[in-house]
Parts: sequence; C-alpha cells; structure tokens
Amino acid sequence: MKFSSFLRFAGYGVQSILGREHRPILGTIIVTDKCNLKCRHCSVNNITAVIHPHAQIQSEMQQLYGMGVRILFFCGGETFLWREGGKTLRDLVVEAKAMGFLIVNVVTNGTFPIELPEADLILLSLDGDRERHNAIRENTYDTILTNIRNATADNICLYMAINQINKGAVREVCLTARDTPNIRAVSFNFHTPYPDTKELALSREEKAVCCQVITRMMREGVPVFNLKSAFPYLIDNRFPTPCRQCVVMENGKLSTCGRCIEVPGLCEQCGYFFVAEYTLLFRGNLRVILEMLRTYLKYI
Ligand SMILES: C[S@@+](CC[C@H](N)C(=O)[O-])C[C@H]1O[C@@H](n2cnc3c(N)ncnc32)[C@H](O)[C@@H]1O
Ligand code: SF4
Ligand code: SF4
Repeated sequence: MKFSSFLRFAGYGVQSILGREHRPILGTIIVTDKCNLKCRHCSVNNITAVIHPHAQIQSEMQQLYGMGVRILFFCGGETFLWREGGKTLRDLVVEAKAMGFLIVNVVTNGTFPIELPEADLILLSLDGDRERHNAIRENTYDTILTNIRNATADNICLYMAINQINKGAVREVCLTARDTPNIRAVSFNFHTPYPDTKELALSREEKAVCCQVITRMMREGVPVFNLKSAFPYLIDNRFPTPCRQCVVMENGKLSTCGRCIEVPGLCEQCGYFFVAEYTLLFRGNLRVILEMLRTYLKYI
C-alpha cells in the first residue's frame, strides 16, 4: 500500500472509532458462486452457479464505494471462473483500483494460473500439507504449488481454514508460506460450523493449541497476516458479531458482515479472524489498533 493510501486508511479508521460510526469500510463482492471444486468444509459453492454480469459487478463496486468502503475483496465460488466477453477477474481488479479502492484483494482456490499483479493481496486457500489439503480440497495440492511458483507477482497470502481434518497442519502451512517464492504471508480462519459441516468445528482447547502454534511461528519469523492480540477473543468466541463495518454484495443483495448472517446461531460460533480483528478495532481496542497498523504496513 502506498504510504499516502495508508494515511487515508488510518485516518478513516480513527474517524470511525472516535465517532463510533458503523459505516462500512470493508466490502466483499461475490462474483459467482460457481466453483470447480467441492471442498469438504464448504457450504457456499454452486448454489446457483451463476456468473454475475460485468455491468452488475461494476454497479456493486460503485455502490460500495459510495457507501464509504475502501477495502474491497472479490470472492466466490471460484473467482478465477469469472469472465465475460474478453474481460477477466484481472479487469475487475484494475477497475476497482481505478475507482479509488485503497486495497483490492482476491480470494481464490489457486487451481488456475495466477496473473494478478494489480491485486494488493491474493488470498489463496491452502488447507494443509499435501495429504491434509487434498483430503479437503480434492487432489489439488501439486497444481496449486505449481501455480504459486509460476505466478507473475509476489502478492500471494496463503489462506487456511482450520478444522478437524487439518488442525495438525498449521505449522506445515506456516513453513510453506515462509519458504515458497511469491508468498508474502499466511492468514488463518477457524472453521465456521454451518449446519452441514458442524462436525468439523474445533473445540476451545483445539483453537487454543492452534493459536499457540501460530504465535510460536510468528516468533520464528513466519509472516502471519493476523493479529495476535485478537487470539484470546477468537479462542473463546467472545468478540462482537456481526461486523457492522463489513458488508457483502451478492447478486445485487447487500448483507452486513457475511452471507452467513442468515444462518441462525452461526455468528456466535464465527471463526473468521477478520470479524474479530475489525470488530475489536472499531471497539477501540488499543492493542488491536496498533498491531493492525503494523501488520498492514508490513504486508500490503
Ligand atoms: C468460500 S471460499 C471462496 C474463494 C475460493 N473458492 C477459495 O476456496 O479460496 C473463501 C474461503 O472461505 C473458506 N471457507 C469455506 N467454508 C468455510 C467455513 N465453513 N469456515 C471457515 N472458512 C471457510 C475457504 O477455505 C476459503 O479460504
Ligand atoms: S474452492 Fe472455495 S468456493 Fe469452491 S468449494 Fe472450495 S472453499 Fe468452496
Ligand atoms: S458468521 Fe456472522 S459474524 Fe461470522 S462472518 Fe458470518 S455474518 Fe459475520
């Protein structure tokens, strides 16, 4: 992130904290829910399998920008499946940047060639070492690692959703992030137990062990794009939910925080680190504020 953008971002945050405002700063656009995979832990793929039109996504971007959103995520389904005429996901990123979003990130399963140098971060899902990743995400580990090595920029951040299958592979993913070219960092979530994947949820004790491993890895120099100060709240699920400064757009419909807000009882078991990090930030938690400034300056 350019330093000027960083200052605007920080100023915006301070204004929201002091003013106790709930205006959104972080927005996600779901470009399609179509996906080439059917991961064990995922409940949001191929429900409609519609690829949303370019004009609609442009108007969603404008609406979010007008509401004050400055950090934009493109998510899916699989984002790299999005195309229309000659346009691809890369064009959406370039358009978002030109519109004035300060940070534009993309979430992907990494199974397609990665040519997205304009994105600030590409959050690329890697859910373990080869064995555990493949147990969750079909047989994709080797393809993904090849795509990472062949990527045209070093803006990749591994993205791991920790669940019962891969809870023992946190260290391996950390080391992959540290030792593989083109990877800038790694970021984590705990499994959020939708009704059809409840059995994959972690207990409080299991979350605590994972956070201990991540903390140790941070001390050993692994680049982790999360806030240690939010870990105690994540372990006990005692952060405020939903995130009122986060919004998601899917097919013209705006929701607060995530599409999952409609699932009864899910927010109390939320495992998404960004929710804890942003809600604590906007509650004025000083340790979180300082760590977020440091972390964003380092990795974006
Ligand atoms: C829904 S996927 C969409 C983007 C892309 N297809 C991918 O897999 O990265 C976005 C992220 O959500 C994660 N995810 C899916 N279901 C989850 C759940 N129930 N709890 C936590 N993370 C989940 C995935 O592992 C992935 O990192
Ligand atoms: S690749 Fe992403 S959207 Fe597709 S099934 Fe896996 S987690 Fe869900
Ligand atoms: S479960 Fe609730 S708090 Fe968590 S991301 Fe979804 S809407 Fe937000």
